[in-house]
Amino acid sequence: MNACIRAVVRLGLDNGMTITGVYRGFDGLIDAEFKVMATHDVSNIIQRGGTILKSARSKRFFKEKYRKAAYKAMTDRGIDALVTIGGDGTFMGAQCILDEFKIPILGLPGTIDNDLYGTDNTIGYDTALNTVVDAVDKIRDTADSHERLFIIEVMGKDAGFIAARSGIAVGAEAILIPETNTYLDDLINTLRSGWRNNKTSSIIIVAEGDNLGGAFEVEKKIQEHFNKYDTRVSILGYVQRGGSPSAYDRLLASRLGAEAIYGLIEGKTGYMVGVKNNELNYTPFLKAVKHNKGIRSDLIELANRLSK
Ligand code: F6P
Repeated sequence: MNACIRAVVRLGLDNGMTITGVYRGFDGLIDAEFKVMATHDVSNIIQRGGTILKSARSKRFFKEKYRKAAYKAMTDRGIDALVTIGGDGTFMGAQCILDEFKIPILGLPGTIDNDLYGTDNTIGYDTALNTVVDAVDKIRDTADSHERLFIIEVMGKDAGFIAARSGIAVGAEAILIPETNTYLDDLINTLRSGWRNNKTSSIIIVAEGDNLGGAFEVEKKIQEHFNKYDTRVSILGYVQRGGSPSAYDRLLASRLGAEAIYGLIEGKTGYMVGVKNNELNYTPFLKAVKHNKGIRSDLIELANRLSK
């Protein structure tokens, strides 16, 4: 998100705006945790993971009285437009602000899940993908040496984008995602045929929201039905949420941050700004969060064919 904040600040200042940073998301709005941003405040951050403005999942913002407090904090401070960066929860909050206070607001897609409609990639997704691929490549070394089956859990409660794309990139023998029902028999047959073809080690990528359960549950079910492999589990967890952003993410974040400023100048409000087929794209908040982006079936088909 830092690359995005940097672009919003720099392009806003370039266009004669005063840019006020809000710490800790909607909680910081409620508590008026503001900082007027100067160009040097965003120097040397494009390469840093995380966000210098911190982030929070605000439970208070669900209550109207706190939303009113947030709006008062903004107006008292002379803030007359808002750029939010986040995932579906952020955009649901942004829609409330739009409905209740009519302040111009644009949203930028900042989540590793890539589960927002209206943008090919969300900010952070490519970096998370590369982190997973690097980690799984390392795990494959020990899986191969010890002739083991590894079940590796990646993030994505409702969306299997990280699992699907990283699974293909690492040559996983099986990829389990929330979007498609995983049938245990199919999984066991895949492992059985691999065993018959003298596959001495295997990698299964599981999205945390898969219907078979998380990686430990999948391991347990495999052992109950096919215990030829010595199995191990690795939960990649929060390592997927940090690290220096990839070049792709820095470019995407810079492009979207700049477009948020141009969009506000043109009077646009109530949209998530994304990039679709390499073109800038505006999607209404509620369409961005509720419209299922879905995973291309040809990708899943390819993964299954390649992993024989
Ligand atoms: O939405 C992004 C995400 O990283 C999901 O992939 C993950 O399930 C969730 O956030 C974890 O939430 P928290 O940071 O509150 O533990």
